[in-house]
Amino acid sequence: MRRIENHPVLGPDSSEDVGITVDGREVTAKAGDSVAVALWADGQKVLRRSKTGQPRGMYCGIGHCFECRLLVTGDDGAKVSVRSCLTPVQQDMRITTESGE
Ligand code: FES
Repeated sequence: MRRIENHPVLGPDSSEDVGITVDGREVTAKAGDSVAVALWADGQKVLRRSKTGQPRGMYCGIGHCFECRLLVTGDDGAKVSVRSCLTPVQQDMRITTESGE
């Protein structure tokens, strides 16, 4: 995980670790991060593919462009498309990157 751990103004990062799964791969995130930020910190910048296979990722970071969509599996097993820049990570969250379908 690549991130600033001790900022000169904000001080040391004291947020808790959160375990999530992305396409079956376990990733450690920080509580309070959005899914997009957690994946960015983990080195994954491609969050989905367009219909023509072009890579897409976090673009605006404020919920306007919808380029950061991915799927989150709920407790009932249903997958819901979310904007990862607006969605906070949660412990045991299961995420699937989209493939353009
Ligand atoms: S990056 Fe634009 S909506 Fe998420």
